[in-house]
Amino acid sequence: MSDILAELERRREAARAGGGERRVEAQHAKGKLTARERVELLLDEGSFEEFDMFVTHRTTDFGMAESKPAGDGVITGWGTVNGRMVYVFSQDFTVFGGSLSETHAQKICKIMDMAMQNGAPIIGINDSGGARIQEGVASLAGYAEVFKRNVLASGVVPQISLIMGPCAGGAVYSPAMTDFIFMVQDSSYMFVTGPDVVKTVTNEVVTAEELGGASTHTRKSSVADAAFKDDVETLMETRRLIDFLPSSNLEKPPVRPFFDDPDRIEPSLDTLIPQNPNQPYDMKELIHKIADEGDFYEIQEDFAGNILTGFIRLEGSTVGVVANQPMVLAGVLDIASSRKAARFVRFCDAFEIPILTLVDVPGFLPGTAQEYDGVIKHGAKLLFAYAEATVPKVTLITRKAYGGAYVVMSSKHLRGDFNYAWPTAQVAVMGAKGATEILHRSELNDPEKIAARTEEYETNFANPFRAAERGFVDEVIMPQSSRKRICRAFASLRGKKLNNPWKKHDNIPL
Ligand code: HXC
Repeated sequence: MSDILAELERRREAARAGGGERRVEAQHAKGKLTARERVELLLDEGSFEEFDMFVTHRTTDFGMAESKPAGDGVITGWGTVNGRMVYVFSQDFTVFGGSLSETHAQKICKIMDMAMQNGAPIIGINDSGGARIQEGVASLAGYAEVFKRNVLASGVVPQISLIMGPCAGGAVYSPAMTDFIFMVQDSSYMFVTGPDVVKTVTNEVVTAEELGGASTHTRKSSVADAAFKDDVETLMETRRLIDFLPSSNLEKPPVRPFFDDPDRIEPSLDTLIPQNPNQPYDMKELIHKIADEGDFYEIQEDFAGNILTGFIRLEGSTVGVVANQPMVLAGVLDIASSRKAARFVRFCDAFEIPILTLVDVPGFLPGTAQEYDGVIKHGAKLLFAYAEATVPKVTLITRKAYGGAYVVMSSKHLRGDFNYAWPTAQVAVMGAKGATEILHRSELNDPEKIAARTEEYETNFANPFRAAERGFVDEVIMPQSSRKRICRAFASLRGKKLNNPWKKHDNIPL
């Protein structure tokens, strides 16, 4: 009997050794943790339950029959993050470069199926050379099976991808279909084709970092949602993100204990808006002052800074925040900010996370660059996302809410539940100067008349009361009471039920 038990332990040891000492050392030398070390750090201590530790590939071509490492280059299973169940796969770069074989894919698919059936998030740790070259089409088919499950799981359970090494080809398309992508600075890359292929096809010379490093994907392409300095920080931030999210679309986000008075008054907010309407202020200050304990988990911080997206908690419950940021491009809506916010709003709506929208927007960015790149279609994404969202929606206009952008930013007309405004709000078709120049063009050479016209326009429209008279703004509130009013509004909406008409699916302007 003891021999049998020892045999199990021997086999386990062999599986845990991955691709062997030399390759593990090489992994560490690059500043990367091994696949198992990553799982241990991600999950609560001792909570990991592994599946398929002894699975091996079935290829015999290219001398592969002689090399059959147990586990086949991916560690799969489930465990907990702060007590809540998650499923996880972690590719082992020390085994055939973490490349995906038919059996490697089957292991991933098994835990994806279980995650969907049991209603728990899927966290994929990607560190892979892509399709296993020795397996040909069998490995491509494996990728297709994973992709299909990414699509079926979308909107059912949260899917998070961590990019922790080189990821090319198939290894990028699976993450691309998940909800959040985190990268590690200086040791992770994502590209459809690497620098060598780029050189051959387009004659372009580019480094891996420039082509698909963390900075490229968090700042330029917006493929990634955040990047962190090393593996440890990336894994810890993933735990923090999981804490904000529900386990599935059938559950509410977790309610955490909170130590911040929902009735907290913030007198400093009464002077947040500068006297000069063209002077910026930091919208993050407002978010921090509304949030429980000032905690704001920002998503896509380095991309399209003119709009802020992220999670806060109010009375312990997760709320998604979308806010124009006057500090960047005066908070204007453009292609990048519309795409960024639309995707975030749709994530929140899919997972029943209420949305708080903070508005200070001078309109859509004009110009040929925007028009040629399709600002109409991209701006419509945000309009579409807000209009279709059925979760509780609370909106607060702090200053400008002009034109189409007023409508887009969770206005009453798009089924905003509570639409608040500060007394400093200006709800109008456009700013006073622009409006006067159009309406009174013939008087432009008379500065006195123009000044009087501008003042007349400001008195009439540069305030929240015209909108409030029509019920488009439900209440004009004191800035200092914002947290209290917003907390009460969301609390009153906890039982909200609203359904869209039946359809197979909508046709959002992609
Ligand atoms: C099999 C692979 C492999 C692969 C790497 N290895 N990629 N084995 N299939 N795709 C093995 C290497 O042979 C090596 O084995 C070990 O992994 C480490 O690789 P190195 O090249 O030594 O490491 P490094 O220098 O860090 O370079 C990593 C890399 C490079 C950038 C990922 O290996 C690479 O370019 N690989 C190929 C990438 C690729 O083109 N994949 C196919 C994508 S197409 P030893 O035994 O020496 O340790 C695709 C199609 C899917 O994925 C499409 C679905 C729709």
